Amino acid sequence: VSVRVAETKAEIDAALALRLRVFAGEQGISAEAEIDGLDAEATHLIALRRSETIGTCRLRFRRGACKLERMAVEEGVRRLGVGRRLIDAAAGIARAEGASEVLLHAQRRAEAFYAACGLEAEGETFLEEGIPHVLMRMPLAAGAQ
Ligand SMILES: CC(C)(COP(=O)(O)OP(=O)(O)OC[C@H]1O[C@@H](n2cnc3c(N)ncnc32)[C@H](O)[C@@H]1OP(=O)(O)O)[C@@H](O)C(=O)NCCC(=O)NCCS
Repeated sequence: VSVRVAETKAEIDAALALRLRVFAGEQGISAEAEIDGLDAEATHLIALRRSETIGTCRLRFRRGACKLERMAVEEGVRRLGVGRRLIDAAAGIARAEGASEVLLHAQRRAEAFYAACGLEAEGETFLEEGIPHVLMRMPLAAGAQ
């Protein structure tokens, strides 16, 4: 499995298709909410097994922080470390871009995954698309690995 930035429109389209399978298909979020108009300004990471897109997330840089969104791994290949590889790659890119931290809005049912990857929850539960979320963040020490 290789993890890297999506480079072509076809690669980004494959990532969007995976997101729709996971967030619309599995979780019942509307396609309109999932494809929210912010993809053009984002950096898309993809996890590839041979030529198949099995994982993705996107990064947006705001006010010195890297916001990680739309983390999704294909249902049949979960708990094999793909999500962790995506987080590690995101942190590496965020650090290289000079971001002070990675932050995200975690679905509470995914909190243990993000915690295992080094993010810490902060504050109260809030709803997005009717789903309970919590803010999670990971500071990035400048120059650290
Ligand atoms: C959340 C998600 C991205 C995790 O991806 P993944 O590839 O399965 O995660 P990894 O295999 O890299 O897991 C890394 C570690 O996180 C923890 N973890 C992962 N999934 C977990 C779960 N469901 N419950 C508890 N811990 C979990 C484990 O400690 C795991 O280590 P392990 O191999 O020792 O079990 C994946 O389950 C997914 O796509 N879910 C549906 C979409 C979603 O909810 N996205 C999050 C939106 S905020």
